[in-house]
Amino acid sequence: MDRIKITGGRKLEGIIPISGAKNAALPLMIASLLTADRLTLKNVPNLADVALLARILRNHGVDHSIEGKRASTTHLGETFHLTARDIVDTTAPYEMVSRMRASFWVLGPILARMGKARVSLPGGCAIGTRPVDLHLSGLKALGAEIDIDAGYVVAKAPRGGLRGARVVFPKVSVGATHNVLLAAAMARGETVIENAAREPEVGDVASCLVKMGVAIEGIGSSTLRIQGRDRLEGAVHTVLPDRIETGTFAFAVAATGGDVLLEGARTSLLETALAALAQTGAEITEERDGIRIRRNGSGVDPITVETQPFPGFPTDLQAQLMALMTTARGTSVIRETIFENRFMHVQELARLGADIQLHGDTATIRGVKHLRGAPVMATDLRASVSLVIAGLVADGETTVNRVYHLDRGFERLEEKLGRCGAAIERLSSG
Ligand code: EPZ
Repeated sequence: MDRIKITGGRKLEGIIPISGAKNAALPLMIASLLTADRLTLKNVPNLADVALLARILRNHGVDHSIEGKRASTTHLGETFHLTARDIVDTTAPYEMVSRMRASFWVLGPILARMGKARVSLPGGCAIGTRPVDLHLSGLKALGAEIDIDAGYVVAKAPRGGLRGARVVFPKVSVGATHNVLLAAAMARGETVIENAAREPEVGDVASCLVKMGVAIEGIGSSTLRIQGRDRLEGAVHTVLPDRIETGTFAFAVAATGGDVLLEGARTSLLETALAALAQTGAEITEERDGIRIRRNGSGVDPITVETQPFPGFPTDLQAQLMALMTTARGTSVIRETIFENRFMHVQELARLGADIQLHGDTATIRGVKHLRGAPVMATDLRASVSLVIAGLVADGETTVNRVYHLDRGFERLEEKLGRCGAAIERLSSG
């Protein structure tokens, strides 16, 4: 298993290109199941999760090709061509869905197009219980009959297919919004989703569905009004920049000090996170080709933050923020309101010398003068990258184990940081 070795204490200076958003690329790829025509996606990041989903989609009968070869230095991601002329298999097996939670989102589109689907209950990062009740109640509202059989969701559409309905989510769920939105695109008549997730990745999928011929009102708001179509067309769509990768590098620069341009990043995708970062004393400027983050000399100021659905502070940046706060000049408080078990990084940060107390959903972080390098590991993607940030700050050497978590969601992480002066290298276990 590969490891990443970091020798901390260096400032970051230079340019980091921001990749296409993983969490938009995945549902956009799944949208290809809705049409027999070709869906072309540009700026797809080269990540383990993307490759795994491509395999899952091929299993359903999606032809997938990647256009040409790109220069390794550019942040322009890959161009995918996806064509689901026929869906040859309506079952998404346990072996695949258990490895990536987002693959559960094939349920809505396969059900809508084929009238039936059998999809394993999901797995994914160990960050909480992560039920799927909202996905299922949303699809039931569109007329689906749903049974759970031997770990599988078995869904059937009524005769004549799914029909538009009003779906009111009692809680904001990104995945349930994707699943119901994708199904509603092919349901008869109008579907209104209330309390829809407003995450920019949901908006990106909705915009792509519009290009595929679906009329959608309210994109970016919490009420989506969707006019389903029985036949969707192909389209060409560019995946939006990854706001979580942007925030991760922004927090890294704030932690080490330095001056980095996050090329291709958009402030509108992470205003709350950038506002929090500004409170810690970092300087943030929007430039023509991205966002510049600077912190020179001054220390990190402590803050109090609570994670919330978009436009609030994202749970996917909570661990990275905590890494930054470990060396703040005072006490910070971070409350996690989205997932009940998303603090696995706490004990690993403690191994580096961080002073963090956990009480239920709240972490109190007392800033220390120095972190000291150590071997660490994490069990989810964002927790792993928080350890990389802490390693960049710590004196001496930190090795981050289980790098496959990072490869799921960060494209060429060590190369991007290395080019900005970080002493970071991947140790292959052969
Ligand atoms: C998406 O997960 C993201 N994944 C997650 O990013 C992100 O942390 C999360 O949204 C929140 O922003 C992708 O986009 C691929 P939810 P998702 O449904 O859709 C509860 C990463 O690191 N809930 O919005 O699975 C749930 O338990 C990943 O890239 C129900 O109760 O998250 C949680 O408490 C990790 N019933 C809350 O809602 C349901 O049916 C929000 O979850 C569904 C969810």
